[in-house]
Amino acid sequence: MGNRKTMPAAFIKIKGHQCHLKKAILGMVFSLCSKYKIRKGNGRAESHFCSAITVYIMCGIIGYTGNSCASPKITKGLSVLEYRGYDSVGIAAANENEISIIKCKGRITSLEEKLSDSLLQESHTAIGHTRWATHGGPSDTNAHPHRVGDVVLVHNGIIENYMEIKKELTESGVKFSSETDTEVAAAWINRCYCNLKDPIPAIREACSRFTGSYAFAIMFENLKGEIYAIRRGSPLILAEGKDGYYLASDITALLPFTPKYHILDENSIACLKSNEIKIFSDSKDACIPEWKITSITPEAAQKGGFSHFMLKEIHEQPEAILKSVSPRIINGLPDFSGDGIHGDFWKKIKNIQIVACGSATHAGLAGGYFLEKLAKIPTSSYIASEYRYTPPIATDGTLVILISQSGETADTLAALRYAKAHNIPTLAIVNAVETTIAREADYKIYTYAGPEIAVATTKGYCTQVSVLYMIAVAIAHQKGDISDQTAKELVENISQGAPKAISHILSQRNILTEIAKKLYRHEHVFYIGRGIDFHICAEASLKLKEISYIHSEAYAAGELKHGTISLIENDTPVIAIVTENRLYEKTESNLREVKSRGADVILICRDDISSDNHSTDSVLTIPSTSDVASVFAAIAAVQIIAFDAALLRNCDIDRPRNLAKSVTVE
Ligand code: G6P
Repeated sequence: MGNRKTMPAAFIKIKGHQCHLKKAILGMVFSLCSKYKIRKGNGRAESHFCSAITVYIMCGIIGYTGNSCASPKITKGLSVLEYRGYDSVGIAAANENEISIIKCKGRITSLEEKLSDSLLQESHTAIGHTRWATHGGPSDTNAHPHRVGDVVLVHNGIIENYMEIKKELTESGVKFSSETDTEVAAAWINRCYCNLKDPIPAIREACSRFTGSYAFAIMFENLKGEIYAIRRGSPLILAEGKDGYYLASDITALLPFTPKYHILDENSIACLKSNEIKIFSDSKDACIPEWKITSITPEAAQKGGFSHFMLKEIHEQPEAILKSVSPRIINGLPDFSGDGIHGDFWKKIKNIQIVACGSATHAGLAGGYFLEKLAKIPTSSYIASEYRYTPPIATDGTLVILISQSGETADTLAALRYAKAHNIPTLAIVNAVETTIAREADYKIYTYAGPEIAVATTKGYCTQVSVLYMIAVAIAHQKGDISDQTAKELVENISQGAPKAISHILSQRNILTEIAKKLYRHEHVFYIGRGIDFHICAEASLKLKEISYIHSEAYAAGELKHGTISLIENDTPVIAIVTENRLYEKTESNLREVKSRGADVILICRDDISSDNHSTDSVLTIPSTSDVASVFAAIAAVQIIAFDAALLRNCDIDRPRNLAKSVTVE
């Protein structure tokens, strides 16, 4: 046992007994609160629960045609896409006589076993797919590829009007073997192909009937050696290698083969052959892709000695923050001119609406706090799937900031399109370059965090917060609210202080593991905080529940007593985050309230806070070099606590159940 005033990051007291909250009470809350909405306006925050959001999943596509054997490339590409999560897998490969399909529920290893004694191995043209069930449960039959008549295809996205098309086809005698919208799409494309006999007009005609989102890789029985591709709303990337042409839904699947890529435009159709590739758009003659070279190395998408991608990405955060922030510093001051955003742009902003999903929403809430505190700009944060229905009120001087790690999240994209349709200026903060959200927004700022593979975001979130902080400093400086000197200090706090504070916390892993040990057998945990710490609590709580499956709630510390305190029982873990010393006393009172009801109280606070320890069982102290550095230290701490709790519970940390890295349907 130590005194935390003399021991930085000391861990004071750990109690042995643990007990569970009553499932009957919290089960109800759990079902209601998997996500919640917080809307801030002019500094006042309100929060309420909304019904659980259905999580749809983005599947994975890879295709190859060329001089080499296709199936090892397809299985390699599919294993790179594994991180997105999937429940079935399949491949279609063309040989001299026919296109053969092997598919199964389960893992890629099961597919490889089936492939090992198959002629498919020798094929030079193939498409593959990892599926996360949406329409129709996980099964061999529902797995992709699907074949109807001459058409064999794989699909990402959802055809929303598939029932009406299916009815029409069924009435004309078409039989379906699966429950999927994808098989209906295959049947419809087949019907158009039978009528038109030409793949390009057939695909175009068929897709004009579909509503929803799709990326298709399509093969035709009588066009062996060729793969056709089209997309709307779901990503699809073409690539040129030394031995042929590729396509994939995610650039990471292409990295083992080639750095040369081209993002297929929406509604253009690509035709890949072993020795040529062409793109057919509505308006132009066929053209060849303009290739770009990605700077992402294959190693960046590997674990690099860490046990998990998530752990690697947590440790990459100090460097990632530097990469996000340093291109926006000139002479020590914030400067976004490299992003095409000049000083005058910031001066015109009167209010900001931040729109995002999941952790990016939490980054927006934290960023909104900085924008109001430093730049005095009224900022509202919205969950993207709700934005269009609120409806948002824009005035002259409104800026909509969309935040997305993947740049492809369907709800965020829909919100972006809504804002653009209403002539509201849009700025996207995106990690994955040249993705749809980045390309469609009026302005974009890349976070440059590098590929994020773990489903639970860490460095993506962290860099989003750091960019928003830089924007807040830029606006405050441009408006003349802060001097050059203050702006420089604030910039240094993020560019130097935050990475150092994170590194310091990561060196205290053993202490963080002790906290995780206190949590991992519990079913319910509470995070509480005030001000910016409440927003960090929201992310801390999400991180814990998404990877460890421990039910967790984030509460404004002062709000707990208005109802939720009834859920506190003997030994319920309550973790308080206090990175703002001015709020310590108030939060301390709330800790006393829960302590007196038996809670096991864990406090994460700055090392310059002095208090008695009566209300806490354990304390983790974080560096107090600056407010913002403390915030980032707390973020890293809660990420590791979530990681270690999930590890202790033997969870599949990089691929949590039911979740997807990128959700490309609404
Ligand atoms: C999914 C992921 C979350 C992520 C959210 C938004 O739900 O599981 O981790 O925060 O999408 O993703 P984006 O790519 O738009 O930041």
